[in-house]
Amino acid sequence: MEFSITALSPEAAKAGCVVVGVHSDKEQGKELTPPARRIDQVTRGALRKALADLPAKTGSTLLLRDLAGVTAERVLLVSLGARKDFGPAQFRDALRGAAAALRELGAKDAALFLVEAKVASQPLAWNVRHAVLGLRDAFYRFDQLKTKQQAAAPVLQRVVLPLSAKPPLSQALAEAQAIADGTDLAKTLGNLPPNICTPTYLADEAKKLARQFKLGVSILERADMQKLGMGALLAVTNGSHQPPKLIVLRYNGAAKSAKPRAPLLALVGKGITFDTGGISLKPAGEMDEMKFDMSGAGSVLGAIRALAGMKAPVNVIGIIPTCENMPGGQATRPGDIVTTLSGQTVEILNTDAEGRLILCDALEYAARFNPEAVIDIATLTGACVIALGHIATGLFANDQKLADEIRAAGEDAFDRVWQMPLWEEYQDQLRSNFADFANIGGRPGGAITAASFLARFTRKLRWAHLDVAGTAWKSGREKGSTGRPVPLLVRFALRHAGRK
Ligand code: BES
Ligand code: MN
Ligand code: ZN
Repeated sequence: MEFSITALSPEAAKAGCVVVGVHSDKEQGKELTPPARRIDQVTRGALRKALADLPAKTGSTLLLRDLAGVTAERVLLVSLGARKDFGPAQFRDALRGAAAALRELGAKDAALFLVEAKVASQPLAWNVRHAVLGLRDAFYRFDQLKTKQQAAAPVLQRVVLPLSAKPPLSQALAEAQAIADGTDLAKTLGNLPPNICTPTYLADEAKKLARQFKLGVSILERADMQKLGMGALLAVTNGSHQPPKLIVLRYNGAAKSAKPRAPLLALVGKGITFDTGGISLKPAGEMDEMKFDMSGAGSVLGAIRALAGMKAPVNVIGIIPTCENMPGGQATRPGDIVTTLSGQTVEILNTDAEGRLILCDALEYAARFNPEAVIDIATLTGACVIALGHIATGLFANDQKLADEIRAAGEDAFDRVWQMPLWEEYQDQLRSNFADFANIGGRPGGAITAASFLARFTRKLRWAHLDVAGTAWKSGREKGSTGRPVPLLVRFALRHAGRK
C-alpha cells in the first residue's frame, strides 16, 4: 500500500474514491467537515440530501456515486459521531469503517480526506500516523498457507492523504510505514503455525533482519546456555525436540558522537513457540492458541525492524529466549529445583509457569549489556486477561518514571497499558520450603506474582514488564495476532530518545 501527502481539493481529486467525514450530534444533527461541505457546495446540496441514510454510529458509511461536479466516481461518507467526543478511539473506529467499505468496494486507490478531522489534543502528525496504521491493519492478510489464494483479495494500492506536505507530516508518514512493516512482521510470526515458527525459525528471522538492515546478531545455542548456567531456560526446553535459542539482535542508530553517549534500551521478548504447559499439561480447548506464546518475541523483532527501517536515532538491543514447552520423558517435573543464571534457586511447582523461567535468565543476561532501561514483553498470565481483558496491556515497573513514560507512549500510539502494583508484600506468595522461592504464587493476583517473580531478577535494573496475554492476539472468528505492542514500543523508543 502506497501513501502520499498532497494538497488536493475534494471535488477535483482524481481518485477511485474520495473519503470524507460527517459529524453527527443528538442536538445539532449532522455537521459536515470542511471537505464534505465543499462537495456539498459543488453538487448543490446533493451530499446533504443523502445524509439521512448515513447512520450516526461512528464508522458507519454511505457511498454516493457519480455526483455532478465531482471528478471522483465515488464519494464515501463516514460517520464520525459527535464532534465534541471525537478522540483517538473514534478516529480509529471511523477509519476502520472506511477501510471495511473500501475493501467491500474493491477500491484500488482513495483520497482520505478523513485524515484531517481534528482529534482532541492531537497534532495533525498523529492523524497521519494513525491513518496509515489503521489502514495497513485493516488490509493485513495472512493467507500464505491457503492453497487457493482468496479469489483476488481486493487490495487498496494507493492512498493520498490530502494535506499540505510539511516536514513533520512527511516524517510521521515515514515513521508510520515503518511501524506498520514491523507490526506486520510481528503478526505474521504470531500467525505462523508452531510446526513452522520454531525457535530455529525465529533465530533465522533475526539473522535475516540483521542482513537486511545491517544489525548485529548473535545466537546462543544450548551448549552456550549450559556453559553460562541458564538453568531455568534449560529446564523449560527439556521436554522438546526443538533446540532452544537465545537471540541477541542489536541496532545502533544513535549518533556515535552523541555526548553523553546515547542510552541503550533493552527489549526482552518471551519466545515460547508452543506452550503445552509441559507435565502440568493444559486442557485441550483452544490449546492451538498457545502458538501465540511467542508474541513477545515477535514484538521485539517487529519493533527493531520498525526502528531500523525508519533509521531512528536510538540504540536498542533485543534479547529473545525461545524454546517449546512440551511434556516428555526428559521434561521438567513439578517439584524440580533449578539454579538460574543469577545463582538463585527456583522450585518449579508448575511447569506451565514457564514464561517467567525463560525470562529470568534472559533478564539476568540483559544486565550484562548495561542497558539504561529494560522492558520485557510476554504473554505471561491468563490472570492478566481476567484482570484487564483484551483492551489494556498489563504494565509493571520498578521505576515510576519509566512506567509513566511507557503509559504516555501507549496513549500516543493508542496501544494502551494499565499499571498494576508490584509491592513487596506480594513476594510472600512465592515462598518455598525447598528452594530460594517457587515459580508460582497461587491464584490471587496471578499476573502480579508472575511480575514479582521477574522483579527478583531485575533489582539492579530500571525495568518494566508488559503482560500482553490479553492483547497480543484475538480469539474466535477474528483469530489472529494483533501485532501489539509494536506501536507502543516504537513510540516509547522514539519519545525516550527525545522525539515528540
Ligand atoms: N502462556 C501462558 C499464559 C496465557 C494463558 C496467555 C492463556 C494467554 C492465554 C503462560 O505460560 C501460563 O501458562 N501461565 C499460567 C500460570 C500459572 C500456571 C501460574 C496461567 O496463566 O494459567
Ligand atoms: Mn504456560
Ligand atoms: Zn506460556
